[in-house]
Amino acid sequence: MSPLRVTRTLPEDATDAALRADVLGGLTVTPKWLPPKWFYDARGSELFERITELPEYYPTRAEREILTARSAEIAAASGARTLVELGSGSSEKTRYLIDALPLAAYVPVDVSESALTQAGEALIAERPALDVHALIADFTAPLALPDTPGPRLVAFLGGTVGNLLPAERAAFLASVRSLLSPGDGLLLGTDLVKDERVLVRAYDDASGVTAAFNKNVLSVVDRELGADFDPDAFDHVALWDAEREWIEMRLRSRTAQTVKVPALNLAVDFAAGEEMRTEVSAKFRREGVTAELAAAGLDLTHWWTDAEDRFALSLSVVR
Ligand code: SAH
Ligand code: AVI
Repeated sequence: MSPLRVTRTLPEDATDAALRADVLGGLTVTPKWLPPKWFYDARGSELFERITELPEYYPTRAEREILTARSAEIAAASGARTLVELGSGSSEKTRYLIDALPLAAYVPVDVSESALTQAGEALIAERPALDVHALIADFTAPLALPDTPGPRLVAFLGGTVGNLLPAERAAFLASVRSLLSPGDGLLLGTDLVKDERVLVRAYDDASGVTAAFNKNVLSVVDRELGADFDPDAFDHVALWDAEREWIEMRLRSRTAQTVKVPALNLAVDFAAGEEMRTEVSAKFRREGVTAELAAAGLDLTHWWTDAEDRFALSLSVVR
């Protein structure tokens, strides 16, 4: 069994500088907002794993259903020897692909070091012949991938592409396209537009796990930048934006309050009831996914959904 190889493509202080820039940029504008990538410290990654098990949160189960049924077809269509997975988290569902593909190497990429190393260690223990090369990296920045055998399949599962804003998504898909050569593919998981009540329940569960996940971003800013956010002074909000077809998560200030962020020498005023956006989670239709891929130079060749048409996996190739 070879040891887990972990490469940090960001300098240790780059994350700190990026968090400072995002907090300064997001808390000094109206409406206030923070990017969702800051949810995922060790506690945030654990809370996300609990979300995937909630009765209300269907996307993980729906995508697993597709992977269970279709991994052999995906393997036949792709023949990939290297699987690169962006935002790999626990790599739990990825095992269906790993077992179906004729793989030499698996390259999980994530900002969450804890999720990445736990998942990587578990995988090499279970599949000693697999070369696992984990990358601690931000997938929205240019990626330097290890030199492993092709063809290459880039997987972006879970619907995480929906957490990017439309302009970020276009830039992201173009950068994924630049990682692919003829014969390579992109396997993309997209959550689909559906009944508003089902969507809102998935992001506002009865047991409050999603609320804790949402508020965790405040604890991250407190710990990393010495801020004095009190997570209990904010309420979790999940709403459906029917025009933009996305779920928006927000934190609503319970009272008028001032939060200090000493590392930025900043004092931030919140009015009572003021809402700060912490995540969008876009929901898709087949035409939109096809068009966005095409705009990035990718042709959709396969589209698989679960039995209830809740979630889709698409395979696309370089045009
Ligand atoms: N793919 C898994 C996990 C989804 S949760 C699944 O389908 O269940 C989203 C994952 O993306 C988290 O592990 C988080 O740490 C990672 N992530 C979020 N933004 C990121 C970014 N900008 N760069 C790299 N990883 C990111
Ligand atoms: C990771 N991502 C696809 C999740 C989603 O559904 O947008 C994150 C999440 N936010 C709240 N619940 C889960």
